[in-house]
Parts: sequence; C-alpha cells; structure tokens
Amino acid sequence: MNEPRKTRRLGADGTGIAEAAALLRAGGLVALPTETVYGLAADATSGTAVAGIYAAKERPSFNPLIAHLPDLEAARAQGVFDAAAGALAAAFWPGPLTLVVPVSPGCTVSELARAGLSSVALRVPAHPVALAVLQAAGRPIAAPSANRSGRISATSAAHVLADLDGRIDAVLDGGPTEVGVESTIVACLEAGPTLLRPGGVPREAIEAVLGRPLADAGTAGHAPISPGLLASHYAPAANVRLDAEGPRAGEAWLGFGPDATQWPVALNLSPSGDLREAAAHLFGHLRRLDEAGCDTIAVAAIPQDGLGEAINDRLRRAAAPR
Ligand code: TXA
Ligand code: MG
Repeated sequence: MNEPRKTRRLGADGTGIAEAAALLRAGGLVALPTETVYGLAADATSGTAVAGIYAAKERPSFNPLIAHLPDLEAARAQGVFDAAAGALAAAFWPGPLTLVVPVSPGCTVSELARAGLSSVALRVPAHPVALAVLQAAGRPIAAPSANRSGRISATSAAHVLADLDGRIDAVLDGGPTEVGVESTIVACLEAGPTLLRPGGVPREAIEAVLGRPLADAGTAGHAPISPGLLASHYAPAANVRLDAEGPRAGEAWLGFGPDATQWPVALNLSPSGDLREAAAHLFGHLRRLDEAGCDTIAVAAIPQDGLGEAINDRLRRAAAPR
C-alpha cells in the first residue's frame, strides 16, 4: 500500500450500502459501522485484500481477524459448531459475540485472515447497515477495528477518518456506535468454552446460557490462543492512571458515577453509574481527553461486573507500558 487513496464518504442508505459492497467485492478497504466499533472491512476470502487491512492499520504482525457473516447459516459454512457454540450463536447472534471454532472443510476465509490457524473467528453483527453490506457482499468479510494499530478503537466515522483518511477506499457513516466496546470473544474448541476477550456481551449472560462458568484464556491448561491480545493496546498518546481517587495537577480526569470533582479537563463516562453508557462513551472520551494534550489521564475505578469487565480490560491495556 502507501499509495495515498481518496477516501470516499458513503451514506448509510441503499446507494452507500451498494457502493460499499461493490468496493469490497473488488478487493477494496471500507470502514463499516457495527454495533460495537467501526470495522475496517475487506474480502476475507482474498489474501490480497486482507493484506491491505494490515498495511492500512500498520499492524505489525499478522494477527488473525474476525470473519463477519450475515447469518448463522453462512457462519456454519465456515466453521464447525459444537453444542456450546450452537447455543451461544442462537442466544446472542446477531450481536456483540465472536465465536472461535474449528474451520469447516469448506471454509473460504483466507489463510492470512486466519493467520494460518486451524480455527476461525466468526461473528454476525447486530447493525442493520453492516448486515445489509454483508448480505450484498455475499462472502465472509474480515474486519478488525478501524483504527491505526495500537490506538483507540473508532466509534464514529470521524474517528475512523482521524486515523485512516487517505489510507482506505471509503467509510460508510452510520453514526456513533451503540455498544462502544468490541465483541466478546469465546473459543469453542477442545478445551471447552473459553473467554478470550471480554466485550459487549457480559460474561454473566454467556455463563447463564452455558449453565457453567467460562474458562479463562490466561488460566492454567489454556495456551494463549489469541495472539492479537497484546498487553498494550487502545492506547491514547497520554499515559493512563487507573483506579484514581481524583485528578492530580496537570492530569485530565475521566470520572464514573456521581462526581463532584471540579476540574478543567474532565469528562464522565456515566454520571449515573450505568456501565452500558460508560462502555458507549469509553473510546470517544479517551480520544477527547487525549486531544486536550495532558500528559496523563487519571481514570476513576470502574466496577468489574457486567460490561465493567470489558471496560476495565480496555483501560488496563490503555495503561500498559508501551
Ligand atoms: O467488535 C468487534 O469484534 C470488532 C468489530 C469490527 O467486529 N472487531 C474486532 O476485531 O475487534 P480485532 O481484529 O480488533 O480483534 C479480533 C481478535 C484479535 O485479538 C485476534 O487475536 C482474535 O480476535 N482472533 C481472531 N481469530 C482468532 C482465532 N482463530 N483464535 C484466537 N483468537 C482469534
Ligand atoms: Mg482492535
């Protein structure tokens, strides 16, 4: 890549959806809204198209990507669903859940998109525009978050353009995303259902469907099978200080819940203490505080239940040494 491209702005109407699908079928790169974050989409069956994603994002290594599909039937053509995977797909698709399952014999997702693994990550998103594009494209679509590698994920078309303008063919503007954090990733492989990444579907909801606790990827007996889960990620330019009781001189403040802090550079993830609202605001608020130019963003403690697990996961990665 590195040829500058003219990045077209497409509307979330029939014309924009048809244009996006045509660009994808031709091997192009299109940023699409999903209910979690914007995805940088390409034809998952084409190694060349998928390589374009890595170049545009400046992703340092070939991490496996999620293949997005319009429905369960299309997903079953790509991967082998055991009972647990079938139950989770039935309960949460379309929605913010990604299932890592063994590849099916007829899987068309390219080796590059799977990073050579014998498993494949599949997701049916719950966004009408994404679903319409997936239907029109008629093939699995690979899409990591539409941001430069290591940076904060994009939750609006403006965030996409801030990172990728001139590097991709188009962005389809479907407004701000609703969930705000990426999908929950569950592997349904030999070791049994295992949480690889907390996300938009809370752990408790998944465990209720399974009728048993999820294994954790980090715990003994489970190899680290999600190579893309780097410690430092979602990183603003500023440092991030977690579990802060309040801001110190020179810091920006990211609060949660009722908060009487008077501070020049401050935002609140959810004044009422609602974790769904906090997840929806997380990446946008981090970007806005970062743009204010402080050295450090101090962040209030966030409860660990429900969507709090995903929010705290992203904040730990944002705060990790780089
Ligand atoms: O909400 C989302 O999931 C967004 C939207 C656009 O769908 N996508 C997203 O993709 O977050 P990405 O590439 O940022 O994260 C995909 C993660 C990576 O950490 C990767 O390592 C993991 O999924 N992954 C993909 N295939 C895998 C596999 N076969 N085994 C284990 N982990 C896998
Ligand atoms: Mg990402």
